[in-house]
Amino acid sequence: MYMSVCIETRSLSVENTEGLKILDDVSIDISCGDFVIVSGPSGGGKSTLLKIFIGIVEAFRNLKVSGYVRVLDVDVLKEGFRKLLGKVGIVFQNPINEIFSLTVEEEIAFPLENMNLEPIEISKRIDRALHIVNIENLRNRLVHELSMGQIQRVVLASVIAMEPQILLLDEPCAYMDPGSKRRFYEYVYSYWRNSNVTVIVVEHDLDYVLGYATKLLILNRRVVAYGNPIDVLSRVRVEDYGIKEPIYIKMCRGFGKSAKSVEEAIDCLKKFICRDRK
Ligand SMILES: Nc1ncnc2c1ncn2[C@@H]1O[C@H](COP(=O)(O)OP(=O)(O)O)[C@@H](O)[C@H]1O
Ligand SMILES: [Mg+2]
Repeated sequence: MYMSVCIETRSLSVENTEGLKILDDVSIDISCGDFVIVSGPSGGGKSTLLKIFIGIVEAFRNLKVSGYVRVLDVDVLKEGFRKLLGKVGIVFQNPINEIFSLTVEEEIAFPLENMNLEPIEISKRIDRALHIVNIENLRNRLVHELSMGQIQRVVLASVIAMEPQILLLDEPCAYMDPGSKRRFYEYVYSYWRNSNVTVIVVEHDLDYVLGYATKLLILNRRVVAYGNPIDVLSRVRVEDYGIKEPIYIKMCRGFGKSAKSVEEAIDCLKKFICRDRK
């Protein structure tokens, strides 16, 4: 696994015209290959941070952005997002805004054609992306006939097919039922495990993603905490920030134990719950 830093922010601040700080002095390093959860209250600047990572500087015309941000080898505030095209992919909360095409296959092919890839390469990447997200059966379906959960998987497949070095997910499961949400994150996780991609996901329900993450960032305009997920949870009362702590971590604490990993939390619960069983 690469340990070099692929995203670096220094004293990043974003201010609106009334002088309100949307992001306030954010300095973080994200290592290549990390799986980072960004969590925090609504209005805490999470989407703004992701838009900066993908270099959508157009979204900041009316905002004052200061500080330094490097994504891969690009100084995004100076150089904009052109150099990052295809290297950073994003899945937004509402997939409907991202749908361009009629069929699932066309939807995935569209950005690849824009990248001027050879037809053979395009078809290889489509097959692979459909397989990773387990929607081979939807290949010829019309996108607008699919459910929200299915559409979001199509969007994920189309981003994966671009083979980005950084994958950003901004509350991708906002419109999904628990089962679809769990499956969606399983596909994200298995893709992450089998590639060198860096994943940054905005999610407030830690039940679904905590077990996958290498880092947890609590953002409330400022950085509240950033680091090993279990360390952050032991230092910060995340409920104060509208974040749902996983039930197994909470139960473990209820038993007077603090777990240092997800596996430890589960082990600790097993000991308590199963101790009288033969
Ligand atoms: N282009 C903009 N102009 C003015 N205010 C903005 C702009 N973009 C975001 N904001 C404000 O910044 C705050 C943080 O927004 P956002 O990054 O969407 O937070 P989150 O994703 O954590 O809910 C919100 O109060 C929002 O209204
Ligand atoms: Mg948001």
